[in-house]
Amino acid sequence: MQKIAIYPGSFDPITNGHIDIIERGLKLFDKIIVAILNNAAKETLFSVEERVEMLETSLKQFSNIEIDTFDGLLVDYAVERKAQAVLRGMRAVSDFDYEFQMALMNRRLNREVHTVFLMTGLRWIFTSSSIIKEAARYGGDIKSMVPSEINQKVIEKFRSVS
Ligand code: PNS
Repeated sequence: MQKIAIYPGSFDPITNGHIDIIERGLKLFDKIIVAILNNAAKETLFSVEERVEMLETSLKQFSNIEIDTFDGLLVDYAVERKAQAVLRGMRAVSDFDYEFQMALMNRRLNREVHTVFLMTGLRWIFTSSSIIKEAARYGGDIKSMVPSEINQKVIEKFRSVS
């Protein structure tokens, strides 16, 4: 049986920290489905279509991954995709409360779907999509934290909305 994990998130935008988790997750799982939450109620910088395209560009070096979108409950999507696990990265202690709460709720909703946490590489411990957007919005240099194509897209996006 193939070991499949869902790696869910907003990916608004994808960062080097996400890529680090995918790279290490692929050592544990036969396949990772990188799944973007498609939730119209959640305000994002990039549209879901733009985020799919950015993931395709940034993850083209990996085989055994698939990029998809989902809405509704994550555990239902995991069952639909025949995945046994949800993969999440854990950075600093500040992530713990939110991640723990989400993992416990997911387990209550479906005991067959297991959450697996991987520690983010030390280099990326303070890298998040939100902090990157905050820095880039005011002209900060984010190129060491995201793939080069993403750096360009973020710069262009802020230019077009300002
Ligand atoms: O990158 P993010 O924004 O931290 O990812 C959050 C995500 C997409 C994993 C989470 O919001 C999610 O799974 N949403 C789907 C709805 C759901 O199943 N919620 C879990 C019960 S709390």
